[in-house]
Amino acid sequence: MMKKVAIYLFFLIFSGHLFAQEPNSEVKEIKKVFIDNLLSKMTLQEKAGQLRLISVGGDLTLDKVLDKIEAGEIGGIFNTVVEPDLSQMQERALKSPNKIPLFFGFDIIHGHRTIFPINLGIASTWDRSAIAKAAEVSADEATSDGLNITWAPMVDITRDPRWGRVSEGFGEDPYLTSEVGRIFVEKMQKQSLADKKSLVTSVKHFALYGAVEAGREYNSTDMSERKMFQEYLVPYKAAIDAGSRAVMVSLVSVNGIPATGNHWLLTEVLRNQWHFDGVVVSDHGAIRELINHGVASDPKDAVRVAIKAGIDISMNDEYFLQFLPELVEEGAITEDEINQACRHVLELKYDMGLFSDPNRNLDPKLDIDTMFADNRLHREEARDVARRSIVLLKNENEILPLAKNKKIAVIGPLADSKRDILGSWSGAGRANLAVTPLEGIKNAVKNPESISYAFGANLSDDENLYRFLNLYGETTKFDNRPADKMIAEAVKIAKKADIVIAFVGEAEGMAHESSSRTDLSLQATQKQLIKAMKKTGKPLIIVLMNGRPLTLSEEYAQADAMLETWFLGTEGGNAIADVLFGNYNPSGKLPMSFPYNVGQIPVYYSHLNTGRPRGTENMGKYTTSYFDSPNEPLFPFGFGLSYTNFAMDFSLSSTKMNRDGEIIVTVNVENTGNREGMQTVQLYLQDVTASVSRPVKELIGFDNITLKPHTKGQVKFVIKYDMLKFWNNKMQYVAEPGKFNVYIGSDSTTQDKQTFTLLD
Ligand code: NOJ
Repeated sequence: MMKKVAIYLFFLIFSGHLFAQEPNSEVKEIKKVFIDNLLSKMTLQEKAGQLRLISVGGDLTLDKVLDKIEAGEIGGIFNTVVEPDLSQMQERALKSPNKIPLFFGFDIIHGHRTIFPINLGIASTWDRSAIAKAAEVSADEATSDGLNITWAPMVDITRDPRWGRVSEGFGEDPYLTSEVGRIFVEKMQKQSLADKKSLVTSVKHFALYGAVEAGREYNSTDMSERKMFQEYLVPYKAAIDAGSRAVMVSLVSVNGIPATGNHWLLTEVLRNQWHFDGVVVSDHGAIRELINHGVASDPKDAVRVAIKAGIDISMNDEYFLQFLPELVEEGAITEDEINQACRHVLELKYDMGLFSDPNRNLDPKLDIDTMFADNRLHREEARDVARRSIVLLKNENEILPLAKNKKIAVIGPLADSKRDILGSWSGAGRANLAVTPLEGIKNAVKNPESISYAFGANLSDDENLYRFLNLYGETTKFDNRPADKMIAEAVKIAKKADIVIAFVGEAEGMAHESSSRTDLSLQATQKQLIKAMKKTGKPLIIVLMNGRPLTLSEEYAQADAMLETWFLGTEGGNAIADVLFGNYNPSGKLPMSFPYNVGQIPVYYSHLNTGRPRGTENMGKYTTSYFDSPNEPLFPFGFGLSYTNFAMDFSLSSTKMNRDGEIIVTVNVENTGNREGMQTVQLYLQDVTASVSRPVKELIGFDNITLKPHTKGQVKFVIKYDMLKFWNNKMQYVAEPGKFNVYIGSDSTTQDKQTFTLLD
C-alpha cells in the first residue's frame, strides 16, 4: 500500500494535479496515509515541537532558533519577513529528524508591504470589491515574501470605542463584519491552499475579545448565550464557513472561563457544532496566562488545561515542549490528544503544499533594498481603497470639494506624519514610503506654493501619553517649543490663507493593542489649536485621523466640513487630496456609531426596544433615557455624506411570504445632485413580535450603486426564509411566523419602512 501511495503521490505532485481540485476520497486517503505514516515515526518530543510557534527575538537569537528547528522543536515561525532568513530556517527544518517543513506566519492585518487603511477604514468602504482588492493585494505581497499564514481577519464585534483594538476590526455589526471577514478569507486563501498565492487565514480572536468589560484591554467578557450566538459569534462562524483554516483564540475569559482553556468554546462549539477541522492557535503567551486567570496552578497545569480544551498550537511559549511529553507519561493527557493536534498542523502543511514545495516563493538571495523597493508596492490599489474608506461627516454650504487654486493652510500634528498615517499593525510597511496629507495636497494642486503648513500643536501635552507611545522606540515626536508659539505660527499662516484644513485625532499608537482610553475627546492641545483656527474666521475643514470613534460634538459644531479618514495607509495623503478636491466623491459609511459622550457607551443601532422606548414628551420621563444626554449617537452606524444627494423609494414583491418563498425588495435610487456619486443602499429588518425581544433593526444586506447626476438606477435584494432566523426562547435557530418590518436607507436611522408577514 505504502509503495502504491508513494508512486501515486509522486505522480500527482509532478503532474500538478495534487490539490488542484476539491480533494476526492482517494486524495484524502493518500493524505491520511501520508500523515499516519509520519506520525508513526515521530517521537513525542517532535510532536510537541510541531505544536510550537516561535518568533526570533530577545534571548532567542536566530542561531538559537535555527538549532531548535533542526532538533525538531519548532513547527512554525512568525514575525520574520526577511526571505534569506526564512530560507535558512526552512533549510534547517529539512534537516530535522522527520524533515517536516515549517510554515511562516505574520500579522498581515491591513496590508503587507503596501499598507491599506486600518480595518475600520476598510469596513467603511461598504464596498465588496474594494475589500476584496485590499485582501488580494495583501495576500499576494505576503506570499511573494514567502509567508504562508496570517493572523487575520479580526472579526471581533466592537461596540466600545474605549477599546483600542476597535481599529483592527470591522465595527459593531454582525452582518457587515461577517461580510468583510468572509471576503478576506476567500480572497486571501483562494480556492486551494496549494495555490502559491494562497495565504492561510486565522480568524480571531475566538471569542468575544471585542466585548471586554469597560473597554479595558484584556479584561473579561460575560454575555448571555443568546447574544453570543445571535450577534458576537456570527462573524467567526461566517469566516469558518468561508473556509478559514485557522482560528486564533482570544486572550480573555468568556463567561468565567479563559478562552484558551475553554473546552465548551474550542471543542463543543468550534469542533463539534461548527465542524471546524483546521488549526486552533493560541494567542501570544496565552498558555502561561492561564495561571494568572486562576484556572491553572503552574505551567504544566496550564499546558494540560489548554490542550484538553482544544488548543493545537501555542504561540511563543516554552511550555508545550517542556511539559506535553511529561503529561502523557504521567497519564494526565493521552498521546491521542497530542496526535490529534499534531494531525491538524500536518494536514495544514500538507494542504499548503509544503511537503512537496517547502521553499515556495522563497528567494534565499533577496536583498533588503529589493525587499523594500517602491516598485513592489501596489499604490494604485491602496489609493483607491483609501479614498473609498473616507467618510464625509459634515459639509456645510458645500464648502467641499475645494477649488485647486485656493490658498490653503494645512495645520496640525497629523498633517505631515508618515508613521501615523500607516496605522497600527503595519510591521512590514515603511513609513518613508507613505504619503502624508500635506504631501498629497501639494501633489494635487497646480501651485504647491499656495499651500502653507504649520505643526500647530502637539497631539497632547501629557508626558505620560508620550512615554506610553514611545515605550519601545520613538514613534511620536514631542515638539518642545512653547504651545502658544506653535499656535501663533499656525494662526499667522491661517490668516493669510483662504481655507484652513486641520489634521487632528490620535497617534497610531493610541489605537492599537493595549491602548484603551476612558476619555474619547481630542486632547486639550488639539482643542486649543482648533479654537484658534476657528477664531481666524477662515472656513475650517477638520480632517480626523484616528482609530476609533471619538467624542466630537464641539469640533462638529466648529467645523465647516469634517472628514473621518482613519489611518489610511501608504497612499493616505493622496487619497485625502482626492476627496478634498473632488477627484473622488466620498462614499464611505461608518461601521461604528460615534457617541456624544463616553457615558453612552455602548451605543449601537441594533439594540432592543425595551418596555419603555424613549418618549418624546415630558422630557421622556419614565422612559429609557438619560436626563443629560440623548440616547442616540452623534453619528449613527451606516452614516456618511456625499457631494451629491440621493433620493430613494422602495417596494416589496409581496406582503406575504411562505417558508419556501422569498420577498424581492426593489429600491429606486436617484442621484438628485450635480455630481456623479456612489450610494450604499442599506437593508434593515425588524422582527416585530417573537418569542424573545428582537432588535429595533438589523442590517441584513447592502449594495452600492454609482449614478451620474440626475440619473436613476435600481438595487434589488432578496429576503429569504433563512434570513429571518434567530435564536428563539428555547435556543433553537428558527424563523417565527408574524410581522416583519423592512427598512431601506442610507444609514441606520432610516424610518422608510414596508411590512410583510411570514406565514405559518
Ligand atoms: C497578540 C495579538 O493579540 C494578536 O492579535 C496577534 O496576532 C499576536 N499577538 C501575534 O502578533
